[in-house]
Amino acid sequence: MTNHDLEQIIGGLVADGKGILAADESVATLTRRFDALKIQSTEQSRRRYRELLFTTPGVAAFISGVILYDETIRQKSSSGTPLAQLLDRQGIAPGIKVDVGAKPLAGAPGELVTEGLDGLRDRLAEYRGMGARFAKWRAVITVNDTLPSAACVSANAHALARYAALCQEAGLVPIVEPEVLMDGSHTIERCEEVTSAVLHAVFRALLEQRVALESMLLKPNMVIAGKDSSRQASVPEVATATLRCLRRHVPAAVPGIVFLSGGQSDRLATAHLDAINRLPGPRPWAISFSYGRALQDPALEAWHGRDENVTTSQQALYHRARCNSAASLGTFTDDMETAASVLEALAHRGADDD
Ligand code: 13P
Repeated sequence: MTNHDLEQIIGGLVADGKGILAADESVATLTRRFDALKIQSTEQSRRRYRELLFTTPGVAAFISGVILYDETIRQKSSSGTPLAQLLDRQGIAPGIKVDVGAKPLAGAPGELVTEGLDGLRDRLAEYRGMGARFAKWRAVITVNDTLPSAACVSANAHALARYAALCQEAGLVPIVEPEVLMDGSHTIERCEEVTSAVLHAVFRALLEQRVALESMLLKPNMVIAGKDSSRQASVPEVATATLRCLRRHVPAAVPGIVFLSGGQSDRLATAHLDAINRLPGPRPWAISFSYGRALQDPALEAWHGRDENVTTSQQALYHRARCNSAASLGTFTDDMETAASVLEALAHRGADDD
């Protein structure tokens, strides 16, 4: 695998109108999401849910890659096909979350550092053998008036860069995810200040660790007010602040930026992505999505753990994927959300499947 091969994988991941489905919730996180809907979380129920998502008819028109969790990449569909292969056959690249989670950072009360570097070289080789084409590592940055500390930012930036270098060595595209959390009552201005500092530290660390910027993707948060902030920014404000921050801190050598949704509602995550892609001025990178909750929430709710709801659930995923695909091109319109248009999309989907 050369950097050229990695660039080809990236070309597919951020091809026009395509984005990534993050379905890499750990067992604990998915169990929390299931619990909220009173769905029992077992190895089987988690497998059935992921199989439902990955077999959504027509979704490959909008989804270029899926991030899997360790349990999922080892699972097979009900007909015995490994789930990673099921994706591959539809032209969807399987990816894998390789960090082992955010743990308390010693000496930094209230802050986290993402772990998982020990033994990572061997794990990457194994995942590549199982069909993974790209990987993900998420760093978590907590914001308030005094946080994050310099210690937290530099420890997380360093780990992200070490991870990215190991991925490129192993022939996997690294998705570098520094997430400045929406939790808290901070303003959009404070989010921009912290996101700027974090991106600055992350790119400095990536260069220090000799990561080829052309062979990676960045997965950042949008610049947005904290969810408990008394002043929520408008869609145009979020778009303008986000693009300004990215232009200042993300080198043009990076081929693509794929946002996380971070707890935004599904519709708002689409509206923000669309607004960013409609702004005038230079955008040297492809800008698309790598959403978890903003793609899955309506599908999970519709499924509710019941086989008889599989089709409705798949329709919900298809709809969100279609809206976000349009947003990644800056061509989303509000009426794509209306019921009539959902029906139209489904009719269209029937045609696509033929
Ligand atoms: P959300 O879009 O739900 O934030 O998930 C994306 C992700 O991969 C978090 O690591």
